[in-house]
Amino acid sequence: MSTSDQSASLSEVDLALEMPRHVAIIMDGNRRWAAKRLLPRQIGHRQGVEAVRVITRAAGEMGIRYLTLYGFSSENWKRPADEVSDLMGLLRLFIRRDLAELHQNGVQVRIIGEREHLEADIVALIDEAETLTRDNANLKLMIAFNYGGQNEITSAVRRIAREVKAGRFDPDAITPETVAAHLDTAGVPDPDLIIRTSGEKRLSNFLIWQSAYAELVFTDVLWPDFTPDRLKEAVAEFKLRDRRFGAVAAAKP
Ligand code: IPE
Ligand code: IPE
Ligand code: MG
Repeated sequence: MSTSDQSASLSEVDLALEMPRHVAIIMDGNRRWAAKRLLPRQIGHRQGVEAVRVITRAAGEMGIRYLTLYGFSSENWKRPADEVSDLMGLLRLFIRRDLAELHQNGVQVRIIGEREHLEADIVALIDEAETLTRDNANLKLMIAFNYGGQNEITSAVRRIAREVKAGRFDPDAITPETVAAHLDTAGVPDPDLIIRTSGEKRLSNFLIWQSAYAELVFTDVLWPDFTPDRLKEAVAEFKLRDRRFGAVAAAKP
């Protein structure tokens, strides 16, 4: 191997080390995207699904290992019934249309959030997607659907309390790891980078436990306009951040 080959491969390693392992995205701004074009809002949501396809593919190609996308919050039930039904329809469409390709690309699909109140056929599709892709080891794609961080933590607490009541668990032995292991995201590393599109600067009940030390990047781009280049920009911003986790800055090599 020549010297130049060696330095090329070293810088690739460097790049890989700096990549966020887990990127999570609050995909916001579909309605405003449609309104700007005087289009019905379901067209905005539909375009949003196109962005999901493109970004999922790009994330895998960039070497991101875990990608979590916020698709429907536990608070989104407050929207008009026809919009809720459109959003449910889009999850159906996404799984029906894209599952085969995702599986072919070695993507593992997992849906986090509550299954109760979802229609039986959607739950069946979710089960199908998770079962088919269970052993895939490339990108791990988590879709947060009917998801709310407060509900997720509440369910975890409820399950831990049941174990305590049954005498299987000592309350003094409960640690943050115990709580994490009872969340929907059990076994998944916390997000390194959370991106929110559309200019809003809040988490809206997304991964509120897991985001403790996530780097946050906000962009004004509306979700249907979010492209792989925008994702690369967010990752570039992440790479400039100095993550200290409460300690002192690491000495620069
Ligand atoms: C994000 O876009 C999609 C969902 C929340 C389901 P919105 O529908 O929130 O669009 P804006 O934020 O109102 O523009
Ligand atoms: C957050 O967006 C939920 C999703 C992206 C699925 P919202 O548009 O529902 O959030 P708020 O209401 O602006 O906080
Ligand atoms: Mg919104």
